[in-house]
Amino acid sequence: MTHDQLHQRLRAALGETAVLTDPDDVAPYTSDWTGAFTGTASAVVRPADTEGVAAAVRLCAEAGVGIVPQGGNTGLVGGGVPDGSGEQVVLSLGRMRRIRTVDPIADTITVEAGVPLQAVQEAATASDRLFPLSLGSEGSCTIGGTIATNAGGTAVLRYGMMRDLVLGLEVVLPDGRVWDGLRPLRKDNTGYDLKQLFIGSEGTLGIVTAAVLRLMPPTPRRATAFLALDSVDAATALLPVLRQHGGGQLTTYELLGRQALDLVLTHQPGSRDPFGEPHAWYALVEIAGSTDDVEARLEAALGEAVEADLVGDAVIAGGPAQRSALWRLREDISEAQKSEGVSIKHDVTLPIDDLARFVTEMRPRLEELLPGVRPVTYGHVGDGNLHYNLSAPVGDDAALRAAAADLTRAVYETVTALGGSISAEHGLGALKRAAAARYKSDVEVDLMRMVKQALDPTGLMNPGKVLPTAG
Ligand code: FAD
Ligand code: MLT
Ligand code: ZN
Repeated sequence: MTHDQLHQRLRAALGETAVLTDPDDVAPYTSDWTGAFTGTASAVVRPADTEGVAAAVRLCAEAGVGIVPQGGNTGLVGGGVPDGSGEQVVLSLGRMRRIRTVDPIADTITVEAGVPLQAVQEAATASDRLFPLSLGSEGSCTIGGTIATNAGGTAVLRYGMMRDLVLGLEVVLPDGRVWDGLRPLRKDNTGYDLKQLFIGSEGTLGIVTAAVLRLMPPTPRRATAFLALDSVDAATALLPVLRQHGGGQLTTYELLGRQALDLVLTHQPGSRDPFGEPHAWYALVEIAGSTDDVEARLEAALGEAVEADLVGDAVIAGGPAQRSALWRLREDISEAQKSEGVSIKHDVTLPIDDLARFVTEMRPRLEELLPGVRPVTYGHVGDGNLHYNLSAPVGDDAALRAAAADLTRAVYETVTALGGSISAEHGLGALKRAAAARYKSDVEVDLMRMVKQALDPTGLMNPGKVLPTAG
C-alpha cells in the first residue's frame, strides 16, 4: 500500500479533518520541545475516540507503517516525534480530551489520554480532591504522555510517580485490539499487573487512550520556603530534618544551584533574587496539608536547620503571590536554560548520599573536557534526582555540540559507578536508547526486547525509541 492509499483509507475511516498531510499542518508535530529532534511524517492522524485510534492502528499495521504516539509534545528525550524517513505516522491524542467521571466513593477520576495534566488537577480541585502529579509542563503535557513516560515532577517525594497514581488503563494494542483495563480496583492480584507494562513504555507497546487515576485529600494549607544553602551536603543533611518535622506532609524538596537561578533571573521577566547576596545553592521546600500547623512545622524544621548550620538564609512565603514567585524561580529553569542557547540534558538519579560527591567530582572532569562548560544543576533532591544540564561555554554552542558525546559519557559513567540511573523521570526516547544498551545489564536489555517482541512483533509502535538496537 502506498502512503497516499493509506491516507485515503485513514480519511475514510476517521474523517477528512482527522488526517493532516499539508507540510504546514504537520510541522508542529515533527519537532520536539528542546529543538534537538526534528523529523518528517507521512501524516498526522488525530482520532476523536478510542475506536478511531484502533482503526488508525489497524490501517497502519496493514500498511506496515510505524506509528509515533504523541500527546502534548513536551517530552525531553525525542520520544514523541518521528524520525527523518518520512515513513512514520504521528498519532496525536490531542482530540481525546474528555474527563469521563469523577467518582467520590472510589476516589478516582477517569480521563481520556489527551486531557492536559492541569485540566485533571483542576477537575480534582473542583470536586474538593487533589490530583498530585505536578510538572513545569502541566499546562501542555497530557495524561497519556505522563503515563507513557511515567512522569515525576515536584511532588514525587510524597505521592510517588505517575506509576503510583494509575489504577486502570485502556490501551490500543499494536494489532488494533482494545485492552479494557479501565478498572478502579485498589486490589487485583490476577497475575501480571499488565497496566504497569504500558506505564513508562513511551509508546513502544501500545497507545494509552484512557486511564483511571487515584485522587488524594486536598492540601489547601501550604507553607513554602526558599532557602540559601552552602553545599549539596547541607541539602541532603536537611532532608531528614524536613521529613521529621513535616510529619508526612513534606511534599516538595527541590534543589537549585546558583547557575540555575542566574539563568532564571536573566531570562524570566519579573523574577527577583529573594536574597540580598548570592549563595552557592538554594532549595524550595513545601509542606502542605489541610490544617493550620503546616507553617509551624516548616518553622520548626528551619529552626533546627539553622541551629545545625545547614541553612544560610531563608524566606517563607507570606501569601499566594510570594509563593507563586518562589515557585517560578524553580519551575522556570528549563525555559530559561532554553533561552540561554544550546544545552545537553542529563536527568539522573543517584543514591541521595552521593549527590554531593557526584557534583564535586563532575565539575573538574567536565571542565577538562570542555573549558567553560556551565553545569546548570537542579532537580528533585528529595528523590535523589538531579537535572545536570550542561549549557555551552558563553557564546560557543559549537564547542558544546562537538564535545557532547564525551561530556555525556563522563556524566553517565560517574552516575553508573555510583549506582545511579541515567534516566530518572524523562525516559529513554530516542536520546538515550543507545546509552541504555551500554548502562543497563544484558539481562535487562534482553528482557526488554522479549517484552517488545511479545507485544509488538512487527515493531511498528514508536520505532527507534527506547529499545537499544540489536548488537
Ligand atoms: P509527549 O511529549 O507527546 O510524548 C512523550 C512520550 O510518550 C513519547 O514517547 C510518546 O510517543 C509517548 N506517548 C504520548 N502519549 C501517549 C499515549 N497516549 N500512549 C502511548 N504513548 C504516548 N517530566 C518529568 O517527569 N518531570 C518534570 O518535572 C518535568 N518537567 C518538565 C518541564 C518542562 C518545562 C518541560 C517542557 C518538560 C518537562 N517534563 C518533565 C517532561 C514532559 O513534560 C513529560 O515527559 C510528560 O510526561 C510528557 O507528556 P506529553 O503529553 O507532552 O507527551
Ligand atoms: C524539571 O524538573 O524542571 C525538568 O524535568 C527538567 C528539565 O527540563 O531538564
Ligand atoms: Zn524534573
